[in-house]
Amino acid sequence: MNTLQHLIDIGSMDDEQLVHVLDRARAIKQDMGKYRNALDGALAVNLFFEPSTRTRFSFEIAARRLGMQVVNFAASASSVSKGETLMDSFRTVQAMGPDVIVFRHPDNGSAADLAAHALPSVHVVNAGDGSRAHTSQAVLDMMTLQENFEDLSQIKVLISGDLRHSRVTHSDVQAMRKLGVGEIRLASPAELRPGDETAQGTVQFDDLDEALQGVNVVMMLRIQKERFTGDQAPDQEHFSHQWGLTAERLNQAAPGCLVMHPGPMNRGVEITSEVADGPRSLILQQVANGVSARMAILMTLLGQ
Ligand code: CP
Repeated sequence: MNTLQHLIDIGSMDDEQLVHVLDRARAIKQDMGKYRNALDGALAVNLFFEPSTRTRFSFEIAARRLGMQVVNFAASASSVSKGETLMDSFRTVQAMGPDVIVFRHPDNGSAADLAAHALPSVHVVNAGDGSRAHTSQAVLDMMTLQENFEDLSQIKVLISGDLRHSRVTHSDVQAMRKLGVGEIRLASPAELRPGDETAQGTVQFDDLDEALQGVNVVMMLRIQKERFTGDQAPDQEHFSHQWGLTAERLNQAAPGCLVMHPGPMNRGVEITSEVADGPRSLILQQVANGVSARMAILMTLLGQ
């Protein structure tokens, strides 16, 4: 297998690398103790310029479970507030000798830009750049699909909500294409449709009820309010009425249809609590898988 220096987006991994990370993530989950201290003494820096609960914590927990040391950077408490540029902040942090820099930023393409300026000893992991990519989320989402379905070519997966601004849409669609998911459906209001590159090879709908017919999995996405300017974000009440997943709507899907959401959820807007907390919800399984998926990513980057 080719070595992986950085994890920027799913497109930068070949099929073998993606399958390897997923196989390893499932193996780690089965026997986490076996991997304790696998990366003893290595140093990870979480360099986050946007808020995060799941991604930052699970990268930290993953690194600590592997015996790594972890340092967290908070933009609001850093010299960014004194005018330091992103690249200067990155170069400053990498001069201190970390092995891995886990990076989140609102600008599309910023992770690839940093990776292009990384020292040979430093591995950059994209933990979300703008609306472009959320690579480790796609790994944990694919792991969750694999745990629930033996043959991904036999399933229909629907992603619905604010597809235009969601980095999860882009990365998950790329990953599902690579893994040969039977049918990928995308549903959103016209103004929240994804770009052409994401939509390639998918079936698009502008009505959630139609899109749900016969699907095996539905992933709901929140409105990414932080990516709208002014008051352009859709009205939540209207959006919830047209696009919110309720238990009644879910009955139109295939029997036993499972529900995913990358979080954070806006309960009562894109998903009701009845569905989010119901028996078909995989949402906390996704969160749990985030730890082993990120352990697998760190081990693969560090050549273990
Ligand atoms: N799924 C996700 O990226 O969640 P956080 O923003 O909490 O990390």
